[in-house]
Amino acid sequence: MTQPLELQELIAEMEARRRRVAEGGGPERQKKQREGGKLTARERLDALLDPGSFLELGTFAQHQGGRLMQGVEAPGEGVVTGRGTVHGRQVFVFSQDFTVLGGSLGKMHAAKIAKVMDLAARTGCPVIGLNDSAGARIQEGVDSLSGYGEIFYRNAVYSGAVPQISAILGPCAGGAVYSPALTDFILMSGGSSYMFITGPEVIKSVTREEVTFDALGGADVHTRKSGVAHLSYDGDAAVLAGVRDLLSYLPQNAREQPPVVPTIDPAERRNDRLLEIVTPDQRRPYAMHEVVRELVDDGTFLEIQPHWARNILCGFARLGGHSVGIVANNPRVMAGTLNIDASDKAARFIRTCDCYNVPVLTLVDVTGFLPGVAQEHAGIIRHGAKMLYAYAEATVPKVTLITRKSYGGAYLAMNSRDMGADAVYAWPTAAVAVMGAEGAANIVYRRDIQNAENPEATRARKIAEYKDAFDNPYVAAGKGYIDDVIAVEDTRRVLIRTFEMLRDKQETRPYKKHGNMPL
Ligand code: HXC
Repeated sequence: MTQPLELQELIAEMEARRRRVAEGGGPERQKKQREGGKLTARERLDALLDPGSFLELGTFAQHQGGRLMQGVEAPGEGVVTGRGTVHGRQVFVFSQDFTVLGGSLGKMHAAKIAKVMDLAARTGCPVIGLNDSAGARIQEGVDSLSGYGEIFYRNAVYSGAVPQISAILGPCAGGAVYSPALTDFILMSGGSSYMFITGPEVIKSVTREEVTFDALGGADVHTRKSGVAHLSYDGDAAVLAGVRDLLSYLPQNAREQPPVVPTIDPAERRNDRLLEIVTPDQRRPYAMHEVVRELVDDGTFLEIQPHWARNILCGFARLGGHSVGIVANNPRVMAGTLNIDASDKAARFIRTCDCYNVPVLTLVDVTGFLPGVAQEHAGIIRHGAKMLYAYAEATVPKVTLITRKSYGGAYLAMNSRDMGADAVYAWPTAAVAVMGAEGAANIVYRRDIQNAENPEATRARKIAEYKDAFDNPYVAAGKGYIDDVIAVEDTRRVLIRTFEMLRDKQETRPYKKHGNMPL
């Protein structure tokens, strides 16, 4: 059907305007963006979302003027916003366009982001931010600061209501880093993304330190040293695939359960391989990663913060098709002891699981909190307390398996029965005690050993006595602290049945505004 000429003209004008917006900062700047190994804002959305699912909102937004913005063009206000689907489930997205004024954030740019965040909260869907921004738009002054305020406020208010995921895909400076820091996960692209509060120039002028962008806030720094970011990948496309993968373990919102992903990996599969990995020799470290992969569906484990605080492992997997968050000591790094960073990492992960109804499996092989003046002075008491708090606070199903050592305060911090575990299992190799037999014998029987005719023989006898008394799982099992001592090769079957048993778990807590977690 032919349309009257006037309508055709109007449609043509609309299409021309839309094309202009889609060009962003123009072909030259887009070329520069690609030369830097980056995708454009719209190409990123194509890579993230299911094909054809994107619905754009706020397309024709314009900046609100101001003296320094006279005559400045900012197509789309430097950010593409809307909704789409990932694995068929709705998500809201914003993708900052560095080709438009460096992706800097002005008042309308912020309003577009706030709009999709509000829609996500109202409809109960995740928000994904693709960040590539030079921070507050300098020309807009206090209005751009206000814009950040609107976003930070929503990041905090919607925290725990809907998952919020940040991909860092360019140089994110100033305010551009605090919004991601308030979200659940940060994924960075190595080599082309940076996060810092103040850049190398400002640092040089204030402290005289000279530092490159990469050494200041590159993906390596934030995934290995600072713990600010959770994951890093090679290039934009890999980051966006990572976001899709991460979403597959999470529900749409705090009222829903994570999606079930059917598997052909049998629930009854025996774990004979574990018999080769774990030995009763308490001093021989083994790869906890291999234990995790052997137990979970298809050997698939998405480790979170794999390069930071490596003495503890945190990550998502599935058991019988259901999402599970795994926290495990890593006997290969610092003998798996808990220190400040490990406590922070685990506490944050446990709380994330609890927000989004992901049950927690804890695998324990720990001799204690790391002793040392540096740790004490840096506040291991305050940080370790976060872990105790996070486990006790979590109401999702919580299952603990003690593989070998579980000593002292760390026994409690790794989700013991008294800290709220719904089920606690141990392998026959487990040992639950206040401390290792040698340390215990040296303290408790010091006088007997010193005064003995043959101190070494006495020491050996006392150690054996202590081992008999505590260095096994049966004393704790006898007192009800352990529900069962299980065959190593039966572990997957037992865990799947136990989480099945706990699926409808309900737990209520006394009224409060919110707890006062140690920070
Ligand atoms: C407006 C900006 C801008 C800004 C860059 N541009 N930063 N426009 N506001 N903050 C513009 C440039 O003029 C340029 O425009 C384009 O973006 C690309 O910038 P380049 O410098 O050419 O790019 P590059 O060399 O890649 O360097 C990127 C950069 C650098 C490292 C991000 O631009 C930079 O340091 N910018 C300033 C960062 C900053 O200090 N932001 C304010 C933080 S304070 P043309 O037209 O040439 O393409 C803040 C306060 C909030 O955010 C705090 C809340 C807690």
